[in-house]
This record gives sequence, structure tokens and C-alpha cells, in this order.
Amino acid sequence: MNSFTINGPGVLRGSISVPGDKSISHRAVILGAIAQGRTKIKGLLESEDVLSTVNALRNMGVKIDHHKDEGMLIEGVGLYGLKDPGQPLNMGNSGTAMRLMAGVLAGQSFPSTLVGDDSLSQRPMGRVVEPLLALGADISVQNSGYPPIQIKPVNQLKGADYVMPVASAQVKSAFLLAALCADGASRVKEPEQTRDHTERMLRGFGHTISKQGDWIRVVGGKELVGAKVMVPGDLSSAAFFIVGAAITVESQIILKNVGVNPTRTGVIEILQKMGASIDCLNQNTICGEPTADLMVNSTPLRGVKIETHQVARAIDEFPILSIAAACARGITTLQGAEELRVKESDRIRSIVSGLNGLGVSVEERPDGYSVTGGEILPGAVNCRSDHRIAMAFAIAGLVVSGSIIIKDTVNVRTSFPGFVELAASMGMQIKEQVGPHRG
Ligand code: S3P
Repeated sequence: MNSFTINGPGVLRGSISVPGDKSISHRAVILGAIAQGRTKIKGLLESEDVLSTVNALRNMGVKIDHHKDEGMLIEGVGLYGLKDPGQPLNMGNSGTAMRLMAGVLAGQSFPSTLVGDDSLSQRPMGRVVEPLLALGADISVQNSGYPPIQIKPVNQLKGADYVMPVASAQVKSAFLLAALCADGASRVKEPEQTRDHTERMLRGFGHTISKQGDWIRVVGGKELVGAKVMVPGDLSSAAFFIVGAAITVESQIILKNVGVNPTRTGVIEILQKMGASIDCLNQNTICGEPTADLMVNSTPLRGVKIETHQVARAIDEFPILSIAAACARGITTLQGAEELRVKESDRIRSIVSGLNGLGVSVEERPDGYSVTGGEILPGAVNCRSDHRIAMAFAIAGLVVSGSIIIKDTVNVRTSFPGFVELAASMGMQIKEQVGPHRG
């Protein structure tokens, strides 16, 4: 039950690098493990979520070692080289780890079971079972759609077409990973473009993956070739400091080498529409992923209507965007985001109760929220073990005359190890207390 105490008001200043992108890190480790030959990953996010993926692959016989100078080295075993782990694979708090690994395991010749922590055990897995059944996998979930996931070996997965009912990069990726072991071609179509890191990285590992109109197509049976991967900084982690600098007078920060893949930049577009000053400098493409240094200066923000087509491209940033909304003049509305209810916590609930507790006027909708900008008051927030809720409300502490206490922050390490130290290095008055909060 760790907690954060933030004393405000504050200012952010400095030039920093945020840790590596979580989505790209999971994919780099997975593709490295099932490729043939060696993969070298620089900038890998070594957070608890990514370590769940690393440990699962180690338990299936893959050699993955951290080298001081070279980064993470993986000796790939090929598409069919994983070994029976002989025990359930624990994916901790990570939905990405569980869903992507389900795709990897669907075509293997041994049975497997995927389990997770309390939060992950309450997240829907039927959405990943359906597309894998379409490929001929023998996969099931107990407890009406929730983990554990059970997978049994089948003779051969068969290529198939699948139309996704929910916009989810995790589901799309699980399908594509399983399709690598299927006989023939497979295609998947998504209702809304989601992050495309899997598609980009498959190309980097030598696989041909093509677009046919709205369909994404892969042909199974072809081995991947080990690659060198450089992981850019995580825009979802950078977003906390982008908002922190935007809402505090006289802040100026530079966030170096951040991933700005257009399937992820909804948060930048929404904040710019709110009036934020965010400049993308030194734009580059590294290992197929666009990157930039982001310079942020404080400016007054105004409330906006967030468009539904922006939701999938900003899906992890609505906790921190709600803090920007609370500091903006006018009303900010979000709709079409019911997916937030099945993240690490019910994020609509967590945001609404957190803001209410700090005196902000907010209306809860089934598929979003409506926040009226005003003053954020000192107080306490229970982040319900959700890392992004914890960090979002910590940033709110920058504009408070007094202190904010965030309870239950231990899961921040699932995505952003070093958050407290990095925030403090830019001038934030933040302290972490280990163990239950007293006083
Ligand atoms: C992720 C996809 C998103 C996102 C999650 C990471 C990924 O989830 O919320 O944090 O790496 O594919 P969905 O694809 O389920 O929306």
C-alpha cells in the first residue's frame, strides 16, 4: 500500500528522457523470442509488465539476458521452438502480456495456462478467445470470459479472416501472432485504427505483412529473423509531464526521443486543441517508429469536445487528460470511451471519484466524462491500484495550494519505474512512502 505525497503549487523545468515504450517493449521481446537468431534491444522498458512477458518466455526456454552495454539480448528459438513451461504463466497486472502471449501460445505443441493478479483476473478475455478460435485454436476461459486462459495444442492452425468487434491493438496483435503459425493467409479488420507497433515490427523482423483496403494480411509458416531494435520513449509516460508543464505557469520542459507513431498521438492533438504549446523537434524514424523531442511550455487551456475518432489513439491518456480538463477554462467532454471501464481499473469511475474528491465538478457518463474546469483542492485519492490513475493525480498536485496524497501507488512500477525520481528532478515536490499511509 505505498503512497505519494505531492506538495504544490509547483513548476516543471528541464530536459529529460522518459523510459522506453511499453507496447513496443512487449512486442520486441516476443518477436525476438520467436525469431531465429539473436535480437538486441536497446532502451527496453524493464517495468513489471514487460518483465511478466520476459519471465513467461524464459519459462519456455528462451535465453534473455541484460548486458550492460548492448541492452537486452535474446536468443530466438523460432516459431515452433518454445518449450512446455510445465506451470501456469503469470502475467501479473498486464493485459498486453496476457493477450499477446495467448496469440503466441495458440499455435504451440504444448498446453498452457495464463493467469494474472486480481485486477487482470477481472478483465475481459473473450475478445481474444474469439479470434483465436477462428484460426482453429483450442482456447477457453473460465469464469464467463475472465482469466485464467487455457490453451491446448491442435494439429495446425488454419488461416482465417476476422472482423474485430472492439478496437483493440492487443486483440489485433494476438490474432497476427497466432496467424504466423497458421496454414495460409489470415486477415484482420479493425473497427477503428489502433496502435500498429506489431505490424511495423513484424516488417523489421523480415516478415511481409500487407494492407488490402481495411484488411491487414499475414501469411503463416515463415520464420522471423532476429533484429536490432531501439525502443523510443513512451508517449503514454511522457503525457504526464506534458500535461504537468502545460498546466503550471512558467514551466518549460523538453522530453527527448519520444515515440510519436501517428496511431498514438491523439493526446498531443487533443492538448493542442485545448491550447497547449507542444512542439515536435528533431523528428526522426528509428526501427520503423517515428520519434521526436517534445518541447512543452505552459499556456492557458480551454475545454474541448474530444472526438470519438480520437479515442483509440489516446486510449491510455484519458486519466491525465482529465487533469488537463480540470485546469482548463470551460467544459471538456469525452464519449465513446466505454473501453476505459475495462482497463487496470474502471478508469471512468476512478477519474470521476478522484476529481470529485478534489473538489472538481465532473459528470460520469456510461462511455466517458464531462469535466468543468476550475480549482483543484488539496485532498486524498485512492487510485485503486491503477498506475495511470496514480500518476495522473500526482500531476494534479502541481496546481494545488497544499498537498495531495495518492494511496495504493505500488503498481506505478508496472509501466514507469523511476516516475517519482524523474518528477522530482524536474522540480516537483513529490515523496513516496513505502507501506500504508499514516496520518
Ligand atoms: C496496448 C493496447 C491498448 C492499451 C494498452 C497497451 C498494446 O489496449 O490500452 O495499454 O500494447 O497493444 P487495447 O488494445 O486493449 O485497447
